[in-house]
Amino acid sequence: MKILVTYSSKTGNTKKLAEGIFNEIEAEDKVIMPINEVDKLDEYDTVLVGYWVDKAAPNAEAGKFMETLKGKNVGIFATLAFWPDSQHAWESLCNGEALVKENNKIIGKYICQGKLDEKIIAMFEKLPADNPHSVNDEKRKRYEIAKNHPTKADIAAAAELFKERLQAL
Ligand SMILES: Cc1cc2nc3c(=O)[nH]c(=O)nc-3n(C[C@H](O)[C@H](O)[C@H](O)COP(=O)(O)O)c2cc1C
Repeated sequence: MKILVTYSSKTGNTKKLAEGIFNEIEAEDKVIMPINEVDKLDEYDTVLVGYWVDKAAPNAEAGKFMETLKGKNVGIFATLAFWPDSQHAWESLCNGEALVKENNKIIGKYICQGKLDEKIIAMFEKLPADNPHSVNDEKRKRYEIAKNHPTKADIAAAAELFKERLQAL
């Protein structure tokens, strides 16, 4: 089995998760690289692909890549700023799954929180109270918590999930 772990990451959260998964999975032949460096896709029978959530879906670069996958075992992982056990998080993961499931075998999927870019928070802070993205104390607390993610525990949980699913193949 030849495994590719690949990801799209703007501020490093998804990259950190990808590297943690890559380090823990047991495979004789495994490779990690960002999506924009992937060329010989035919060489891999198994692809673990990671994205950051952009409006409840994979970010554009990752989404485009995911649509090209065919005949692979595919694992999906993602990071988002909102709570990972929310409906929004689950939809964000399933929207990624929907891009690949017709032509591939989905082996597992995982999502966790990731720090929201300080620049985005600063932008949200300037919005009027009636804007859906305007900030309040509850959101500030969530942003504080998100700052620590992905944590070691997030990474360990993702790595364990994919380790088990690869063993099951
Ligand atoms: C343009 C944009 C859209 C985003 N949309 C969402 C979203 O719909 N839901 C959410 O929970 N987080 C959203 N986020 C937050 C990121 O998904 C999150 O911070 C992620 O961990 C960033 O990953 P990265 O460090 O790998 O780039 C958005 C961030 C940006 C910049």
